[in-house]
Amino acid sequence: MGYDIRTFGDPVLAAVADEVENIDAKIVRLSESMLQAMYKAPGLGLAAPQIGVQKKIFVYDIDDQPITLINPRIVESSGGWVYDEGCLSIPGLYVEILRPKQVLLEAVDLDGNEIRVEADELLARLFQHELDHLNGVLMFDRMTEEQKKEALSEYRKIVDGQVPRGESRHIVLK
Ligand code: NI
Repeated sequence: MGYDIRTFGDPVLAAVADEVENIDAKIVRLSESMLQAMYKAPGLGLAAPQIGVQKKIFVYDIDDQPITLINPRIVESSGGWVYDEGCLSIPGLYVEILRPKQVLLEAVDLDGNEIRVEADELLARLFQHELDHLNGVLMFDRMTEEQKKEALSEYRKIVDGQVPRGESRHIVLK
């Protein structure tokens, strides 16, 4: 079954997802559907609310290895790093956002094992971005007021078709 990726304005993206109580066959199927939607997009990571499911799960693949994380939480973070961040739910828009450079993430895998991952730069960014989705937080909520204004107006142009197909807009941190 195919899923459409929900985009900015869909209320499911602003809701806090529920903890996963049991890792059953349904959760395994959900993670497979999420990976399918992510590869099709294509993107590096995808959170369950992005396909309309309010559960604390995200998937990612940055080293040709699909990974599913359940009930993730960031327990430590440090440093600062600016990265030109994008989101499948805000297609075509990239914004330079400052966030911690390193994080320590704890989660449960599909076999129910507790895992801890130390992440830096791109992986740390992906973790923070996907975790935000599980808390109903989008990139717009992580921008400065000035960036947010500019980003919303650029995004409106993309949605209205004023930006040529396949082109993206980048908002630089001042
Ligand atoms: Ni996103």
